[in-house]
Amino acid sequence: MDVESVRRDFPTVRSNLGIYLDSACQSLRPDSVIRAITDYYENYPACGGRSVHSMATKVSMAMDEARETLAGFFGTDDPDCYIFTKNCTEGLNTAAYGLRLGRGDVVVTTDSEHNSNHVPWLNLQEARGIQRRIVRSGPEGRFDLEAFHRAMDRSVKVVSVQHASNVTGCSVPVKAVTEIAHDYGATVIIDGAQAAPHMPVDLGRIDADIYCMSIHKMLGPSGMGAMYGKREVLEGMRPLALGGGTVGLTTYDTVNLAPIPDRFEAGLHDYAGIIGTKAALDYLKGVGMDEVMRWDRELMRRIVSNLEDVRNLHVVGPEDADSRGSVFSFNIDGLGAHDIAMMLDSMSGVMIRSGMHCAHPFYVSRGIDGSARASTYLYNNFQDIDVFTDTVRKIAETFGE
Ligand code: ALA
Repeated sequence: MDVESVRRDFPTVRSNLGIYLDSACQSLRPDSVIRAITDYYENYPACGGRSVHSMATKVSMAMDEARETLAGFFGTDDPDCYIFTKNCTEGLNTAAYGLRLGRGDVVVTTDSEHNSNHVPWLNLQEARGIQRRIVRSGPEGRFDLEAFHRAMDRSVKVVSVQHASNVTGCSVPVKAVTEIAHDYGATVIIDGAQAAPHMPVDLGRIDADIYCMSIHKMLGPSGMGAMYGKREVLEGMRPLALGGGTVGLTTYDTVNLAPIPDRFEAGLHDYAGIIGTKAALDYLKGVGMDEVMRWDRELMRRIVSNLEDVRNLHVVGPEDADSRGSVFSFNIDGLGAHDIAMMLDSMSGVMIRSGMHCAHPFYVSRGIDGSARASTYLYNNFQDIDVFTDTVRKIAETFGE
Protein backbone atom coordinates (compact mmCIF):
# COMPACT_ATOMS: atom_id res chain seq x y z
CA MET A 1 0.00 0.00 0.00
CA ASP A 2 1.31 3.45 -0.93
CA VAL A 3 0.18 5.46 2.09
CA GLU A 4 1.07 8.84 0.56
CA SER A 5 -1.12 8.08 -2.43
CA VAL A 6 -3.95 6.97 -0.11
CA ARG A 7 -3.58 10.22 1.84
CA ARG A 8 -4.12 12.26 -1.30
CA ASP A 9 -7.61 10.73 -1.61
CA PHE A 10 -8.80 12.14 1.73
CA PRO A 11 -9.83 15.82 1.71
CA THR A 12 -9.20 16.51 5.40
CA VAL A 13 -5.73 14.97 5.14
CA ARG A 14 -4.93 16.93 1.96
CA SER A 15 -6.03 20.14 3.63
CA ASN A 16 -3.99 19.46 6.78
CA LEU A 17 -7.01 19.72 9.06
CA GLY A 18 -5.24 18.03 11.96
CA ILE A 19 -4.02 14.54 12.73
CA TYR A 20 -6.99 12.24 12.96
CA LEU A 21 -6.50 9.35 15.37
CA ASP A 22 -10.15 8.66 16.16
CA SER A 23 -11.00 6.18 13.43
CA ALA A 24 -12.35 3.57 15.86
CA CYS A 25 -15.16 6.06 16.41
CA GLN A 26 -15.68 7.10 12.82
CA SER A 27 -13.31 7.05 9.86
CA LEU A 28 -12.49 9.78 7.38
CA ARG A 29 -13.94 9.45 3.86
CA PRO A 30 -12.16 9.47 0.52
CA ASP A 31 -13.20 11.60 -2.45
CA SER A 32 -14.90 8.65 -4.15
CA VAL A 33 -17.35 8.21 -1.25
CA ILE A 34 -18.12 11.92 -1.08
CA ARG A 35 -18.60 12.01 -4.86
CA ALA A 36 -20.99 9.05 -4.78
CA ILE A 37 -23.12 10.77 -2.12
CA THR A 38 -23.12 14.07 -3.99
CA ASP A 39 -23.94 12.31 -7.25
CA TYR A 40 -27.04 10.80 -5.63
CA TYR A 41 -28.29 14.15 -4.32
CA GLU A 42 -27.49 15.99 -7.54
CA ASN A 43 -28.64 13.46 -10.10
CA TYR A 44 -31.12 10.91 -8.77
CA PRO A 45 -32.38 11.89 -5.30
CA ALA A 46 -35.41 9.58 -5.35
CA CYS A 47 -36.54 6.64 -3.22
CA GLY A 48 -35.60 3.01 -3.84
CA GLY A 49 -37.71 -0.13 -3.95
CA ARG A 50 -41.03 1.62 -4.50
CA SER A 51 -41.70 4.00 -7.39
CA VAL A 52 -41.12 2.67 -10.90
CA HIS A 53 -40.03 5.89 -12.63
CA SER A 54 -36.54 6.14 -14.06
CA MET A 55 -34.92 8.04 -11.21
CA ALA A 56 -36.27 5.67 -8.58
CA THR A 57 -35.28 2.66 -10.68
CA LYS A 58 -31.73 3.95 -10.70
CA VAL A 59 -31.80 4.13 -6.89
CA SER A 60 -33.23 0.61 -6.62
CA MET A 61 -30.47 -0.69 -8.87
CA ALA A 62 -27.83 1.14 -6.84
CA MET A 63 -29.20 -0.49 -3.67
CA ASP A 64 -28.91 -3.91 -5.30
CA GLU A 65 -25.35 -3.15 -6.34
CA ALA A 66 -24.45 -2.07 -2.81
CA ARG A 67 -25.82 -5.33 -1.41
CA GLU A 68 -23.92 -7.33 -4.03
CA THR A 69 -20.75 -5.44 -3.09
CA LEU A 70 -21.28 -6.25 0.60
CA ALA A 71 -21.79 -9.93 -0.20
CA GLY A 72 -18.61 -10.06 -2.29
CA PHE A 73 -16.56 -8.06 0.20
CA PHE A 74 -17.45 -10.40 3.07
CA GLY A 75 -17.05 -13.67 1.16
CA THR A 76 -20.70 -14.68 0.85
CA ASP A 77 -22.93 -15.19 -2.16
CA ASP A 78 -26.44 -14.08 -1.17
CA PRO A 79 -26.85 -10.27 -1.26
CA ASP A 80 -30.32 -10.54 0.29
CA CYS A 81 -28.67 -11.62 3.54
CA TYR A 82 -27.42 -8.04 4.12
CA ILE A 83 -29.74 -5.60 5.87
CA PHE A 84 -28.92 -1.90 5.77
CA THR A 85 -28.98 -0.37 9.24
CA LYS A 86 -27.95 2.98 10.62
CA ASN A 87 -25.03 1.52 12.59
CA CYS A 88 -23.75 -1.66 14.18
CA THR A 89 -25.84 -0.91 17.27
CA GLU A 90 -29.05 -1.12 15.28
CA GLY A 91 -27.97 -4.45 13.83
CA LEU A 92 -27.17 -5.88 17.26
CA ASN A 93 -30.50 -4.66 18.66
CA THR A 94 -32.37 -6.11 15.68
CA ALA A 95 -30.73 -9.46 16.35
CA ALA A 96 -31.21 -9.39 20.14
CA TYR A 97 -34.89 -8.47 20.03
CA GLY A 98 -35.62 -10.45 16.88
CA LEU A 99 -34.43 -13.88 17.98
CA ARG A 100 -37.56 -14.74 19.97
CA LEU A 101 -35.71 -15.45 23.20
CA GLY A 102 -37.73 -16.13 26.34
CA ARG A 103 -37.53 -16.93 30.02
CA GLY A 104 -34.58 -19.09 30.97
CA ASP A 105 -32.78 -18.84 27.62
CA VAL A 106 -29.09 -18.20 28.26
CA VAL A 107 -27.05 -15.63 26.35
CA VAL A 108 -23.25 -15.69 26.58
CA THR A 109 -21.21 -12.51 26.06
CA THR A 110 -17.76 -11.33 27.18
CA ASP A 111 -16.70 -8.81 29.81
CA SER A 112 -15.32 -6.44 27.15
CA GLU A 113 -18.44 -5.78 25.13
CA HIS A 114 -19.46 -2.39 23.87
CA ASN A 115 -22.74 -1.20 25.40
CA SER A 116 -24.49 -2.07 22.14
CA ASN A 117 -23.79 -5.74 22.82
CA HIS A 118 -24.43 -5.46 26.53
CA VAL A 119 -27.40 -3.18 27.29
CA PRO A 120 -29.89 -4.96 24.96
CA TRP A 121 -29.21 -8.23 26.81
CA LEU A 122 -29.55 -6.52 30.18
CA ASN A 123 -32.86 -5.15 29.02
CA LEU A 124 -34.01 -8.56 27.76
CA GLN A 125 -33.15 -10.01 31.15
CA GLU A 126 -35.61 -7.59 32.75
CA ALA A 127 -38.21 -7.67 29.99
CA ARG A 128 -38.28 -11.35 29.05
CA GLY A 129 -36.39 -13.19 31.77
CA ILE A 130 -33.39 -14.33 29.75
CA GLN A 131 -30.24 -15.23 31.69
CA ARG A 132 -26.80 -13.83 30.94
CA ARG A 133 -23.36 -15.38 31.31
CA ILE A 134 -20.32 -13.15 30.96
CA VAL A 135 -16.99 -14.72 30.00
CA ARG A 136 -14.14 -13.02 31.86
CA SER A 137 -11.03 -12.09 29.93
CA GLY A 138 -7.46 -12.28 31.23
CA PRO A 139 -5.83 -9.35 33.07
CA GLU A 140 -4.77 -7.68 29.82
CA GLY A 141 -8.22 -8.15 28.30
CA ARG A 142 -7.38 -11.13 26.11
CA PHE A 143 -10.28 -13.45 25.27
CA ASP A 144 -10.15 -16.75 27.18
CA LEU A 145 -11.32 -19.58 24.91
CA GLU A 146 -11.21 -22.12 27.75
CA ALA A 147 -13.40 -19.93 29.96
CA PHE A 148 -15.78 -19.51 27.04
CA HIS A 149 -15.97 -23.25 26.55
CA ARG A 150 -16.72 -23.73 30.26
CA ALA A 151 -19.61 -21.24 29.98
CA MET A 152 -21.32 -23.34 27.33
CA ASP A 153 -24.06 -25.92 27.81
CA ARG A 154 -27.29 -26.81 26.05
CA SER A 155 -29.24 -24.02 27.80
CA VAL A 156 -27.21 -21.42 25.85
CA LYS A 157 -29.36 -20.16 23.03
CA VAL A 158 -27.18 -17.26 21.87
CA VAL A 159 -23.49 -16.44 21.93
CA SER A 160 -22.96 -12.75 21.19
CA VAL A 161 -19.36 -11.54 21.20
CA GLN A 162 -17.26 -8.78 19.76
CA HIS A 163 -14.81 -9.60 17.00
CA ALA A 164 -12.36 -6.98 18.34
CA SER A 165 -12.44 -4.70 21.36
CA ASN A 166 -12.66 -0.93 20.92
CA VAL A 167 -10.63 -0.54 24.14
CA THR A 168 -7.88 -3.16 24.20
CA GLY A 169 -7.86 -3.98 20.50
CA CYS A 170 -7.80 -7.68 21.41
CA SER A 171 -9.62 -9.86 18.93
CA VAL A 172 -11.77 -12.88 19.60
CA PRO A 173 -11.19 -16.10 17.60
CA VAL A 174 -14.67 -15.94 16.16
CA LYS A 175 -14.39 -19.03 13.99
CA ALA A 176 -13.44 -21.19 16.98
CA VAL A 177 -16.15 -19.56 19.10
CA THR A 178 -18.72 -20.21 16.38
CA GLU A 179 -17.73 -23.87 16.07
CA ILE A 180 -18.03 -24.43 19.82
CA ALA A 181 -21.31 -22.50 20.05
CA HIS A 182 -22.81 -24.46 17.16
CA ASP A 183 -21.84 -27.74 18.86
CA TYR A 184 -24.22 -26.67 21.65
CA GLY A 185 -26.93 -25.57 19.21
CA ALA A 186 -26.50 -21.84 19.98
CA THR A 187 -27.00 -19.00 17.51
CA VAL A 188 -23.90 -16.84 17.07
CA ILE A 189 -23.96 -13.06 16.80
CA ILE A 190 -20.73 -11.16 16.16
CA ASP A 191 -20.22 -7.44 16.79
CA GLY A 192 -17.85 -6.67 13.94
CA ALA A 193 -17.70 -2.88 14.44
CA GLN A 194 -13.98 -2.77 15.22
CA ALA A 195 -12.85 -5.75 13.13
CA ALA A 196 -14.55 -5.35 9.76
CA PRO A 197 -12.75 -2.06 8.98
CA HIS A 198 -9.32 -3.42 9.84
CA MET A 199 -8.94 -7.04 8.76
CA PRO A 200 -10.15 -9.39 6.03
CA VAL A 201 -13.47 -10.86 7.23
CA ASP A 202 -14.68 -13.97 5.43
CA LEU A 203 -18.17 -14.63 6.70
CA GLY A 204 -18.46 -17.83 4.68
CA ARG A 205 -15.47 -19.21 6.60
CA ILE A 206 -16.38 -17.84 10.06
CA ASP A 207 -19.88 -19.31 9.72
CA ALA A 208 -21.45 -17.01 12.34
CA ASP A 209 -25.22 -16.67 12.09
CA ILE A 210 -25.30 -12.89 12.36
CA TYR A 211 -22.50 -10.36 11.86
CA CYS A 212 -23.06 -6.62 12.39
CA MET A 213 -20.85 -3.77 11.26
CA SER A 214 -20.60 0.01 11.19
CA ILE A 215 -19.96 1.24 7.67
CA HIS A 216 -18.98 4.71 8.96
CA LYS A 217 -15.94 3.13 10.59
CA MET A 218 -14.88 1.75 7.21
CA LEU A 219 -14.78 4.90 5.07
CA GLY A 220 -18.54 4.95 4.52
CA PRO A 221 -21.12 7.65 5.16
CA SER A 222 -22.09 8.69 8.67
CA GLY A 223 -25.03 6.76 10.12
CA MET A 224 -24.60 3.66 7.96
CA GLY A 225 -24.25 0.09 9.10
CA ALA A 226 -25.13 -3.37 7.90
CA MET A 227 -26.29 -6.62 9.44
CA TYR A 228 -25.47 -9.91 7.76
CA GLY A 229 -27.54 -12.94 8.69
CA LYS A 230 -27.80 -16.44 7.34
CA ARG A 231 -30.99 -16.69 5.29
CA GLU A 232 -32.69 -19.22 7.57
CA VAL A 233 -31.79 -17.19 10.66
CA LEU A 234 -33.13 -13.93 9.23
CA GLU A 235 -36.29 -15.65 8.05
CA GLY A 236 -36.94 -16.84 11.60
CA MET A 237 -36.39 -13.44 13.21
CA ARG A 238 -38.97 -10.85 14.17
CA PRO A 239 -38.20 -7.40 12.65
CA LEU A 240 -37.63 -4.56 15.10
CA ALA A 241 -39.69 -2.06 13.12
CA LEU A 242 -42.53 -2.60 10.68
CA GLY A 243 -44.18 -0.32 8.15
CA GLY A 244 -43.78 0.65 4.52
CA GLY A 245 -41.54 -1.66 2.56
CA THR A 246 -41.58 -4.49 5.10
CA VAL A 247 -44.80 -6.16 4.05
CA GLY A 248 -46.47 -7.92 1.14
CA LEU A 249 -50.25 -7.44 1.30
CA THR A 250 -51.96 -6.08 4.39
CA THR A 251 -55.66 -5.89 5.17
CA TYR A 252 -57.27 -4.24 8.20
CA ASP A 253 -56.66 -7.44 10.11
CA THR A 254 -53.79 -9.30 8.48
CA VAL A 255 -50.26 -8.78 7.30
CA ASN A 256 -47.79 -10.83 5.28
CA LEU A 257 -44.17 -9.93 5.82
CA ALA A 258 -42.08 -9.20 2.74
CA PRO A 259 -39.16 -11.53 2.00
CA ILE A 260 -35.70 -10.69 3.36
CA PRO A 261 -34.05 -8.20 3.27
CA ASP A 262 -37.07 -5.89 2.85
CA ARG A 263 -38.89 -7.03 5.99
CA PHE A 264 -36.05 -5.57 8.09
CA GLU A 265 -35.83 -2.22 6.30
CA ALA A 266 -38.87 -0.23 7.38
CA GLY A 267 -39.62 3.14 5.79
CA LEU A 268 -37.53 5.23 3.46
CA HIS A 269 -33.81 4.80 3.65
CA ASP A 270 -30.53 6.63 3.66
CA TYR A 271 -30.06 6.05 -0.08
CA ALA A 272 -27.06 8.35 -0.26
CA GLY A 273 -25.57 6.33 2.60
CA ILE A 274 -26.23 3.04 0.85
CA ILE A 275 -24.68 4.33 -2.38
CA GLY A 276 -21.71 5.69 -0.42
CA THR A 277 -21.36 2.26 1.22
CA LYS A 278 -20.59 0.68 -2.12
CA ALA A 279 -18.03 3.38 -2.88
CA ALA A 280 -16.35 2.81 0.52
CA LEU A 281 -16.14 -0.95 0.07
CA ASP A 282 -14.82 -0.52 -3.47
CA TYR A 283 -12.10 1.73 -2.10
CA LEU A 284 -11.08 -0.73 0.63
CA LYS A 285 -11.14 -3.58 -1.86
CA GLY A 286 -8.86 -1.58 -4.15
CA VAL A 287 -6.32 -1.20 -1.35
CA GLY A 288 -6.81 -4.76 -0.08
CA MET A 289 -7.78 -5.66 3.48
CA ASP A 290 -4.54 -7.58 4.02
CA GLU A 291 -2.68 -4.36 3.30
CA VAL A 292 -4.96 -2.34 5.57
CA MET A 293 -4.27 -4.78 8.40
CA ARG A 294 -0.54 -4.82 7.74
CA TRP A 295 -0.34 -1.03 7.80
CA ASP A 296 -2.39 -0.72 11.02
CA ARG A 297 0.08 -3.14 12.59
CA GLU A 298 3.08 -1.07 11.45
CA LEU A 299 1.52 2.07 12.91
CA MET A 300 0.73 0.33 16.21
CA ARG A 301 4.28 -1.00 16.49
CA ARG A 302 5.55 2.54 16.05
CA ILE A 303 3.24 3.90 18.76
CA VAL A 304 4.21 1.20 21.23
CA SER A 305 7.92 1.47 20.58
CA ASN A 306 7.91 5.30 20.69
CA LEU A 307 6.17 5.31 24.07
CA GLU A 308 7.59 2.29 25.85
CA ASP A 309 9.94 4.29 28.09
CA VAL A 310 7.40 6.89 29.26
CA ARG A 311 7.36 5.82 32.89
CA ASN A 312 4.06 7.36 34.04
CA LEU A 313 2.07 6.10 31.04
CA HIS A 314 -0.06 2.96 31.47
CA VAL A 315 -1.55 1.00 28.62
CA VAL A 316 -5.08 -0.38 28.99
CA GLY A 317 -4.89 -3.81 27.39
CA PRO A 318 -1.86 -5.74 26.14
CA GLU A 319 1.46 -3.92 25.79
CA ASP A 320 2.32 -6.14 22.84
CA ALA A 321 1.60 -4.08 19.71
CA ASP A 322 0.51 -7.00 17.57
CA SER A 323 -2.32 -7.86 19.96
CA ARG A 324 -3.82 -4.37 19.87
CA GLY A 325 -5.36 -4.14 16.42
CA SER A 326 -5.57 -0.45 15.66
CA VAL A 327 -6.43 1.00 19.09
CA PHE A 328 -4.02 2.29 21.72
CA SER A 329 -5.73 3.05 25.04
CA PHE A 330 -3.68 4.62 27.81
CA ASN A 331 -3.59 6.73 30.94
CA ILE A 332 -1.00 9.07 32.40
CA ASP A 333 -0.63 9.25 36.19
CA GLY A 334 -2.12 12.45 37.56
CA LEU A 335 -4.13 13.35 34.45
CA GLY A 336 -7.72 12.69 33.39
CA ALA A 337 -8.35 11.12 29.98
CA HIS A 338 -10.28 14.15 28.69
CA ASP A 339 -7.43 16.44 29.77
CA ILE A 340 -4.98 14.36 27.75
CA ALA A 341 -7.27 14.47 24.70
CA MET A 342 -7.77 18.22 24.92
CA MET A 343 -4.06 18.86 25.37
CA LEU A 344 -3.19 16.71 22.35
CA ASP A 345 -5.63 18.68 20.24
CA SER A 346 -4.63 22.13 21.44
CA MET A 347 -0.87 21.48 21.48
CA SER A 348 -0.50 19.54 18.21
CA GLY A 349 -3.86 19.20 16.48
CA VAL A 350 -4.00 15.48 17.31
CA MET A 351 -7.57 14.20 17.64
CA ILE A 352 -8.16 11.16 19.83
CA ARG A 353 -11.08 9.91 21.92
CA SER A 354 -11.27 9.82 25.71
CA GLY A 355 -13.64 8.40 28.32
CA MET A 356 -15.04 4.91 28.76
CA HIS A 357 -15.62 4.34 25.04
CA CYS A 358 -19.12 2.90 25.65
CA ALA A 359 -17.49 -0.11 27.31
CA HIS A 360 -18.30 0.97 30.87
CA PRO A 361 -18.47 -2.48 32.52
CA PHE A 362 -14.91 -3.25 31.40
CA TYR A 363 -13.56 -0.09 33.06
CA VAL A 364 -15.76 -0.27 36.15
CA SER A 365 -14.83 -3.93 36.80
CA ARG A 366 -11.14 -3.01 36.68
CA GLY A 367 -11.52 0.15 38.78
CA ILE A 368 -10.34 2.44 35.95
CA ASP A 369 -12.04 5.81 35.36
CA GLY A 370 -11.58 5.68 31.59
CA SER A 371 -8.71 6.17 29.19
CA ALA A 372 -7.38 8.19 26.32
CA ARG A 373 -7.48 6.26 23.06
CA ALA A 374 -5.69 6.79 19.76
CA SER A 375 -6.92 4.73 16.83
CA THR A 376 -5.33 4.51 13.41
CA TYR A 377 -6.38 3.72 9.86
CA LEU A 378 -4.94 3.43 6.40
CA TYR A 379 -4.54 7.19 5.89
CA ASN A 380 -2.27 7.71 8.92
CA ASN A 381 1.47 7.81 8.36
CA PHE A 382 4.54 7.59 10.59
CA GLN A 383 4.69 11.34 10.86
CA ASP A 384 1.18 11.39 12.37
CA ILE A 385 2.31 8.80 14.87
CA ASP A 386 5.48 10.67 15.79
CA VAL A 387 3.62 13.93 16.38
CA PHE A 388 1.16 12.04 18.59
CA THR A 389 3.81 10.21 20.60
CA ASP A 390 6.09 13.27 20.96
CA THR A 391 3.15 15.24 22.31
CA VAL A 392 2.09 12.46 24.67
CA ARG A 393 5.65 12.32 25.99
CA LYS A 394 5.69 16.08 26.54
CA ILE A 395 2.32 15.95 28.34
CA ALA A 396 3.44 13.05 30.53
CA GLU A 397 6.72 14.76 31.46
CA THR A 398 5.29 18.23 31.99
CA PHE A 399 1.85 17.62 33.53
CA GLY A 400 1.87 13.97 34.68
CA GLU A 401 2.90 12.75 38.10
N1 ALA B 1 -17.96 2.73 19.65
C1 ALA B 1 -17.27 3.75 19.00
C2 ALA B 1 -15.93 4.03 19.63
O1 ALA B 1 -15.37 3.15 20.20
C3 ALA B 1 -18.09 4.95 18.90
O2 ALA B 1 -15.43 5.12 19.56
